[in-house]
Formats: sequence, structure tokens, C-alpha cells
Amino acid sequence: MQNGLHTSGPRIGVVGATGAVGAVTLGLLAERGYENVRVFASARSAGKTIAYGDRTLTIEEATPEVLAAGDLDLALFSVGTSASRALVPHAAAGGAFVVDKSSAYRLVDGYPLVVPEVNGNRALEVIGTHRIAANPNCCTIPLTCVLKPLHDVAGLKSVRVATYQSVSGAGWQRMEQLRAEPVADHNLLMDWSWEDDESDEESKLRAETRKILELPGLPVSATCVRVPVLVSHSEAIWAEFEDEITPEQAAELLRGSASIKVLELPEFPTPRDATGGDDILVGRIRRDRAATNGLALFLSNDNLRKGAALNAIQIAELVLAAQTATV
Ligand SMILES: NC(=O)c1ccc[n+]([C@@H]2O[C@H](COP(=O)([O-])OP(=O)(O)OC[C@H]3O[C@@H](n4cnc5c(N)ncnc54)[C@H](OP(=O)(O)O)[C@@H]3O)[C@@H](O)[C@H]2O)c1
Repeated sequence: MQNGLHTSGPRIGVVGATGAVGAVTLGLLAERGYENVRVFASARSAGKTIAYGDRTLTIEEATPEVLAAGDLDLALFSVGTSASRALVPHAAAGGAFVVDKSSAYRLVDGYPLVVPEVNGNRALEVIGTHRIAANPNCCTIPLTCVLKPLHDVAGLKSVRVATYQSVSGAGWQRMEQLRAEPVADHNLLMDWSWEDDESDEESKLRAETRKILELPGLPVSATCVRVPVLVSHSEAIWAEFEDEITPEQAAELLRGSASIKVLELPEFPTPRDATGGDDILVGRIRRDRAATNGLALFLSNDNLRKGAALNAIQIAELVLAAQTATV
């Protein structure tokens, strides 16, 4: 027994356990029955306790030494880019397979950026190498899940996307802030860094989509906006294709795709309906009147689950299963 837990199964470290993504990660791991879980955060949280299923775990400070000690099989990181850069290599050096949810490794050559439904085979590249896989941005994950099956049939030519991102995408403190704000003070925000005339969120969406779909020249134009919604991001997507594809064909393809639920009018995706679920809700699938072979559609997805914690656990499960199969 360790920390009040049975110690069977992979030894998992959740690093950033006190955060918005960390909390959902713990909930998903407990639901899936993982027993051997340790929780890490900054020195600010060390020694405090946190619930895991029906047990209580004590938070450890995530230091290079502790993470490198060699007693973790898997480390799920959600701590922000600079902390990831400082800590992830130590966990990997200690023998853990790491899934990092920050942008530290996403666009670095040689590090797989993985959405299991789209390019799950890439996750296995970490075995026998550096042991680090990157989890994409919370908007890139649902976007690529929707684009991939359509691309396979009709060939993507260009993508335009407008996002409506919830405040939970910016962490638990922003959730608390929204809860405390009078409704009349709510507003749209563009709270990312500017890179020339784009935000870094917009350029990330383009670069990550290209890497995951392995379409390095794909034109992708994004406008990202933070909206006063607590959880779940929405995206309006306009995709142009080489070949003709009808809305009916697209709906049929998406209905047959893992992690996607297609809604028909009068139903349409909303953040409220997406929150707490694992599905990417897709609807409003229609012909794009401004393109020759174009489709317009709308999606909502829980950014803390499939957009972050769930996707990372799915990556980890692919690798753990492959490792078990080769032992
Ligand atoms: N929110 C999303 O939808 C989403 C989606 C995809 C990816 N991500 C990424 O996931 C990461 C975390 O996001 P979040 O929304 O969960 O943020 P958050 O709610 O602000 O939580 C941040 C977590 O990181 C920990 N932390 C911060 N600095 C640390 C350090 N130096 N050492 C150890 N732990 C440290 C914090 O611990 P303390 O409580 O001790 O400060 C806390 O547990 C970010 O990289 C974010 O970009 C988030």
C-alpha cells in the first residue's frame, strides 16, 4: 500500500493534479480503475490532500529528483509550458512514459503529437526512444478528429475555423473568476499572445493540424475567441476539398467515426450538451455556399476531457498496451 492505495497496475504520476485538467485526469483514471496513482503539483500545494475516487492522496512537490527516481511507469503532465520544459525530461529519464499537455513538445521534430483516432500509431514511436508524447491543443483535437475522415475520402484543400473557447481552457483560476463575475460584465476575450497579426493560439491551431494530418502545406486560417462559457469549446469550420463531398456523405462518414456524435437539426452542438461527455458533438453540416467543394459545420467538445485529459489517457493506454504486448 502506498498513500492509502493498492499498488497494482501501472505506477502513474499525475503532475499538475490540482489544476483544471489535473482534476479531470484524476476523475477519469479513477473511473477506469487505475489504483496506483500519485499526485504532484508545485511547492505551493505540497502536503495538501486531494480526493481520488473514494480515497485521499497527499500531494507531492514535482521536483526533478522525485520525478527521476525511477518509480513511475507513466507521467501525465498538465503544468504549463515552462514547468513542463523543466520537469518532463526528468520523468522520462527516470523511465516513465510521459504524455505532456503543454505546448513544450508539440511542434518539436521527433516528438509525436497524437490524437488516437487520427494518428494513434505515432504514439508508439516513443517506445525505445525519448518516451515523451505531446497532447495537442484543446481545439486541435476535435478539429482533426472531424477533418481526418473527410480528408481520407475527398482530400482537404483548405480549412477556415472560428473558435468559441471556454474559460476553463485558461485554467481553474479563470473558472473561479467567471463564476464570481456579474453576468453583465461578461465579454469576449482574445487573451493569447500576439504573433504579428495572429494570436499564438491561431498559429498553433494551424501548425498542429498540419503536423497531425501530415499535410505540411495545408492552408489553415483561424480566429480564436474566448467566450464567457465555463467548460467546452465550440468551433465553426469551413473546409474545402479537392473532390465533391455532400453534407449527407460527410454526416455518414462522421457518424461512423470514433468519438464523434452527429446531431441533426433541430438539434445542434452546444457547450452545455458537450460538457461532461466524451463525444465531439458535430452538427449544422451543410454546403459551404462560398466554396466549390466546401462544407460548413459546427462542433462542441469538452476541452477538459477529450480536449485534454481523456486524449492524454488514451495516448497512454495505446503505449501501455503496446509495451505489455512486447514484454
Ligand atoms: N484547460 C484546458 O482545457 C487545457 C487543454 C489542453 C491543454 N492544457 C494545458 O494543460 C496545462 C495545465 O492547464 P490547466 O488548465 O489545468 O491549468 P491550471 O488549472 O492553472 O493548473 C495548473 C497546474 O499546474 C501546476 N503547476 C504550475 N506550476 C508548476 C510547477 N512549477 N511545478 C509543478 N506543478 C506546477 C499547478 O499546481 P499548484 O496548484 O501547486 O500551483 C496546477 O496543478 C497547461 O499547459 C495547458 O496549456 C489545458
